[in-house]
Amino acid sequence: MTRDPRTVLITGATDGIGLALARHYADQGARLILVGRRPISSLDGELFVPEMYCQADLSKPDCAFLVEAFLQEQGIDKIDVLIQNAGTGYYGSVASQASSHIRDLVAVNLMGPVRLTRACYSLVRKAAGKVVLIGSVVSTLPCPDYAVYAATKAALESFGRNLQSEGGVRVQVILPGATRTGLHEKIGLTREVIDWESFPSAEQVARQIAKAIEGSQRVRILGMGNRFYRILGRWFGGLLEGVMKRSASV
Ligand SMILES: NC(=O)c1ccc[n+]([C@@H]2O[C@H](COP(=O)([O-])OP(=O)(O)OC[C@H]3O[C@@H](n4cnc5c(N)ncnc54)[C@H](OP(=O)(O)O)[C@@H]3O)[C@@H](O)[C@H]2O)c1
Repeated sequence: MTRDPRTVLITGATDGIGLALARHYADQGARLILVGRRPISSLDGELFVPEMYCQADLSKPDCAFLVEAFLQEQGIDKIDVLIQNAGTGYYGSVASQASSHIRDLVAVNLMGPVRLTRACYSLVRKAAGKVVLIGSVVSTLPCPDYAVYAATKAALESFGRNLQSEGGVRVQVILPGATRTGLHEKIGLTREVIDWESFPSAEQVARQIAKAIEGSQRVRILGMGNRFYRILGRWFGGLLEGVMKRSASV
């Protein structure tokens, strides 16, 4: 095993892309801090050990405080890579989405990364490290039925760009496209609407993310197809909106 001397913090490490990233960096021998909301007793005991696992619900305002306290307890004095990957969503019209759900979605996808970035800023700076924000290619595409999700991802990208401009720490926004994870079912999609079987696996996407992290591109869109969609969304957004417009599913 190669020994990676870096300390890597990953949020949303209990499933999907985050779990695949955790396994990737564990294989590299990095020092890991894994953040998730599930109790440790429900997780794979080989990867999730008490000195590495911080249980924190990122929809709650005290999440950054919990992570900070954990880092102090464990004597973590630097973070080389802070990967803010946790995310949640909702499939359906805005009118059909409960306001408490909207609040939680915005909290996990946007407020959580902002709070954690602020809490971990000095540790990342000390390591001359990098803040990595996992956005989505949907941020520049018209996405009826994903309106709040897409808005949080667009705002996260903007946060990343402006944080980078402030200097002090390096920031990278990485935008995956559709990936085969449990997210789709969690947000209420069914295979009749979208069959996610053909999407790349969490492991494939995690490898692409890890590779992108070694590079210096500030905003990195994963995959040729997704780069094409991004261009399409940016320059032909009006046209696409017309094509995708449909009556609201309230
Ligand atoms: N899948 C895609 O098609 C796709 C495409 C583009 C971008 N992305 C982005 O990629 C990232 C990872 O998504 P994924 O597909 O791997 O989804 P996933 O399999 O559902 O994993 C999401 C992770 O975030 C955690 N999480 C959700 N709410 C949380 C909360 N309140 N507090 C703490 N942790 C919470 C989940 O915890 P639990 O295990 O407890 O649910 C899980 O560990 C997200 O930011 C997502 O927006 C995904």
